[in-house]
Amino acid sequence: MDKFIVNGGVPLKGEITVVGAKNVALKILVASLLTDEEMVIRNVPQIRDVFFMLEVLKVLGVESTVDGHTVRVKHTHVPKAKVPLEVGARLRTSSMVIGPLLARYGEATTPNPGGCRLGARPIDRHIDALKDMGADISYHSDDGYFYGKTDGLHGATISFAKNTHTGTETLILAAVLARGRTILENAAQEVEIDDLISCLNQMGAKIKRETARRIVIDGVSALHGTEYSIMPDRNEEVTFAIAAVITGGDILVKNSSRKNLDAFLSQFAGHVETIDETTTRYFGNGPILPSDISTAQYPGFMTDWQAPWAVLMTQAAGVSTIHETVFESRFSYVSELKKMGADIEFFDPVVDKPEDFYNFNWADRVAGYHQGIRIKGPTKLHNAVLKINDLRAGATLILAALSASGESTIHGVEQVDRGYEKIEERVRELGARIERVKED
Ligand code: EPU
Repeated sequence: MDKFIVNGGVPLKGEITVVGAKNVALKILVASLLTDEEMVIRNVPQIRDVFFMLEVLKVLGVESTVDGHTVRVKHTHVPKAKVPLEVGARLRTSSMVIGPLLARYGEATTPNPGGCRLGARPIDRHIDALKDMGADISYHSDDGYFYGKTDGLHGATISFAKNTHTGTETLILAAVLARGRTILENAAQEVEIDDLISCLNQMGAKIKRETARRIVIDGVSALHGTEYSIMPDRNEEVTFAIAAVITGGDILVKNSSRKNLDAFLSQFAGHVETIDETTTRYFGNGPILPSDISTAQYPGFMTDWQAPWAVLMTQAAGVSTIHETVFESRFSYVSELKKMGADIEFFDPVVDKPEDFYNFNWADRVAGYHQGIRIKGPTKLHNAVLKINDLRAGATLILAALSASGESTIHGVEQVDRGYEKIEERVRELGARIERVKED
């Protein structure tokens, strides 16, 4: 276990390159179960979740080699279509192997997935949809496993009652080898899903996003290997953009993907300059304006961005609000920012029909959660001893410590390592004073 020691107050300046998207890499690795031919995946981030996924796949007969950002994977056989709890519980996407395993082997035993605790995070929408395709799946609460069986997955028309990003992907991964046509209505629109679709189509799948929210998949009998380069991680870019502004710095982001950041950039005027198609400059420039943000699925303001945005809003002159609508509990960083002097209070936004409005299952929401925070700024943040509770909250606390006065200690660094590649080494090249130290 490591911690970060951060001495804040240095404007970050220089050049940084965004690595490949975690939330694509993990799904394309799952896709390796769909073929017995080798896949060469490029631009894979070197993060803990990728290594956890390779362990999950190893148990399922996938051999892998990692050479920098290139990962070669080859699946030959499934010794047993079961993911052990201790391996699968480490990451949420481990549950996604259920689709390929059911499609190819007619059975799958997968543990209730782990990952960031942002509320209940059930996978009921995935399971119900797989049942519509002919799978028989039951959850055993005594051992924490989903037991799935099928005589063969068949196409179906599935209409998700509510948006689900990995649910949409899980169904695509199940449907590519199913018999007949699958239609996903009310499918999620995240650009990461389309990158997975491109890779699968390159492997011989027949998938088409017919309209923004309808995806049609015609099952094929087999897929072949491919070589694929993953799109840049838009969450990393947002983190670096905010790092530039909040430290009063000036950062040139390479491998930038502005077209996927519209909802973010529309709030960020005055701090951005387009250099060329894949290079963007972000810089601190004059006052930071307060804002009212409501998170949403794509193409809205991503839930992953609200935590770093909250740090930025501590520096805005006036009152800002953030309304989290996707997850029921994604404000774990608030108590930590308050230790640094941030003026933040929870509130309960009034909405019509919360059961329809929110993306999570409102009826199962734990009493005591709040969906809104109100931030009064500007407040000069000061050093503190901090604890990371989830991945994006981790990046947030690093941003806060980089902009604060004095020396902060951040515990729980393994959460950041799950999704950000060597973050401390990369921001150090921008001038940040941050060290990784072994916990005593
Ligand atoms: N939900 C259910 N039942 C389901 C599926 C989802 O109740 O069967 C709820 C979730 O608990 C959540 C909401 O519906 O409240 C939306 O969930 P969704 O399935 O869309 O999100 P996810 O697939 O769990 C992915 C990313 C998240 C990202 C969201 C939104 C991956 C591995 N995770 O989560 O990324 O925030 O979509 O785009 O792709 C991260 O990278 O740190 C991260 C959490």
